[in-house]
Amino acid sequence: RPSDPDLVERAHVARQALGSSAFVLGHHYQRDEVIDFADVTGDSFKLARDAANRPDAEYIVFCGVHFMAESADILTASHQQVVLPDLAAGCSMADMAAIAQVEECWDNLVDAGVAEDVIPVTYMNSSAAIKAFTGRHGGTVCTSSNAEVALTWAFGQRPEGRGKILFLPDQHLGRNTAVRQMGFGLDDCVVYDPRKPMGGLTVEQLKNARMILWRGHCSVHGRFSADNVAAVRERVPGVNVLVHPECKNEVVSLADQVGSTEYIIRQIEAAPAGSSWAIGTELNLVRRLARLHPELNIHYLDRTVCFCSTMNRIDLPHLVWTLESLAAGHPVNRIVVDPDVAHWARVGLDQMLALPG
Ligand code: 13P
Ligand code: SF4
Repeated sequence: RPSDPDLVERAHVARQALGSSAFVLGHHYQRDEVIDFADVTGDSFKLARDAANRPDAEYIVFCGVHFMAESADILTASHQQVVLPDLAAGCSMADMAAIAQVEECWDNLVDAGVAEDVIPVTYMNSSAAIKAFTGRHGGTVCTSSNAEVALTWAFGQRPEGRGKILFLPDQHLGRNTAVRQMGFGLDDCVVYDPRKPMGGLTVEQLKNARMILWRGHCSVHGRFSADNVAAVRERVPGVNVLVHPECKNEVVSLADQVGSTEYIIRQIEAAPAGSSWAIGTELNLVRRLARLHPELNIHYLDRTVCFCSTMNRIDLPHLVWTLESLAAGHPVNRIVVDPDVAHWARVGLDQMLALPG
């Protein structure tokens, strides 16, 4: 739908009034009407780094979801204020791991006698409390663009062949990285289900596992299936299947290329004219790529897979409301992480930022 010209004008006026006192970040899954006002766009790793590198901006306006804004608050200086244009923009995957459940899981690992071999690795898509748990236990945060480097680092913290990773909260990114990129077998991975006693696992299973995967997933990427890949290959001869690593292993193992949103964009930008692509990720991004690259044949991996409903909550009316509140000196929707949680979460985030590459 075309943007309301009145709102567009108000957004320009507020943006101009704020000048360099505000820095607007836009995740690649944001609507076009929001991306139009972003000073920078990126995947969650790039945006975390960009937020941390703008000490001159009094306001960091995070057009993304709650865990991204929390991470920005942790990584920015105390005089800076991070705002999220709609506080209801959460992430269903991040909500699948509550800190009390994760603490209980750790107690179970202690009881099973394996905790000293375990290094937690937490996907960026998690609450600040889960990141703090990771920092406190000597682990690292990772994103979809550095998961392999993070796992390699984490295994390197224990003697060869002994380390185990507790991967939170996305089982698919953990499994895909271990199996596709690091040569582990599917049977090296077990799934810890927080709703079951001992996560539904035996002591023996915990002892034998190398990857203990939290039972979490993305509600958008979890909908792509192996049948979608087979169907698009049949429909579009020579198609390149390009998917995000939050997809199930059955999808990733049939795809031609796998990577973060930034990686997906790079592949499309480098693609030869006339080539065909089926992209397995959120719809705003796939639509934008199709619009920006008419020289390519871009298809959705599954036509019924929709937007990320929480990313989509940030729209032009919310952005205008937020920018106008900042321009008036009465910021709305500030994200502030508790100082103790922020301290330990920063340990995990700094570890990620220090990883090679
Ligand atoms: P990226 O890190 O690839 O941008 O992914 C973030 C996300 O939420 C994907 O669902
Ligand atoms: Fe969370 Fe999935 Fe939306 Fe990403 S696409 S923000 S993982 S629900």
